Amino acid sequence: MFAKNFLHGKVALVTGASRGIGRGIALALAEAGADIAVHYARKGNKARDVVKEIEAMGRRVIVVKANFAEKEKIDAMLDEIEKAFGGVDIFVANAASGGFRSMLETSDKHWDWAMDVNARSILHIAQRVAPHMHGRGWGRIVTVTSLGAVRVVPNYGAVGLSKSVVESLTRYLAAELAPKGIIVNAISPGLVNTDALANMNMDISSALEQVRQRNPTRRLVTPQDIGRVATFLCSAAAEMIVGQTIYVDGGFNILTEYFPELENTLQTEEDS
Ligand SMILES: NC(=O)c1ccc[n+]([C@@H]2O[C@H](COP(=O)([O-])OP(=O)(O)OC[C@H]3O[C@@H](n4cnc5c(N)ncnc54)[C@H](OP(=O)(O)O)[C@@H]3O)[C@@H](O)[C@H]2O)c1
Repeated sequence: MFAKNFLHGKVALVTGASRGIGRGIALALAEAGADIAVHYARKGNKARDVVKEIEAMGRRVIVVKANFAEKEKIDAMLDEIEKAFGGVDIFVANAASGGFRSMLETSDKHWDWAMDVNARSILHIAQRVAPHMHGRGWGRIVTVTSLGAVRVVPNYGAVGLSKSVVESLTRYLAAELAPKGIIVNAISPGLVNTDALANMNMDISSALEQVRQRNPTRRLVTPQDIGRVATFLCSAAAEMIVGQTIYVDGGFNILTEYFPELENTLQTEEDS
């Protein structure tokens, strides 16, 4: 699909790359030739495992740590990346955090945490990396959002609100930065089996199976699916896609809950 190593010479910062979707994106960008800054918050061992995988591909790679609730930690992380690589050409804003609770149980503290870690950090990092991208006349910013930004997911209020901000921020940044050669888009993954689901207070395997069955493609989204789309958004083929939220969910979001009987008629012969 892409020329081999088409991202050679580019430096990508992938936040939350120690595991899950972020790891999938970091590996995909490295596979496409990029050098990688693998960011994590707490799980250093997992991040270092990802570093080893990327080193084995022959790319330059560093590991950086920062809690995105603390602006000074973000600045220190960016200083470290600039020292190692000179700057960031591709910024993938994947890291996210936030507990599951009802809207009425969401305190100022929960609100601030989700907004700071999931949304405000993206603006701060974009403000720091954009001048380097502008100087090179090329940059890509890919944010990671979720369906909870536009639909109600039970007990997901604080994170869902922060993801709405991420999608809006993606559009504002996209309009402002496109004239500088910096293309900004969001990816909205469907349900992916990662550690994040462990906090959801539910029977994960039965939830995953229900989502799989409801999905028009009859399979779950993987970190590799998201990695491939993030890579595509960094390619020349995608340069006129600007400020969009790309759903990578096998069509899950296009279905309605209102007519389950009719949805059954969508089943293929293979299913029945
Ligand atoms: N999984 C899904 O079904 C799904 C669906 C739609 C969208 N998404 C989105 O996809 C992205 C990745 O999700 P995931 O499921 O892969 O998550 P995950 O497995 O829980 O990984 C979260 C990542 O964020 C980092 N992180 C956590 N708290 C942080 C903080 N305070 N400051 C900075 N980084 C922090 C973690 O670092 P440590 O490893 O060091 O803790 C980890 O690398 C998120 O934006 C999420 O909202 C996920």
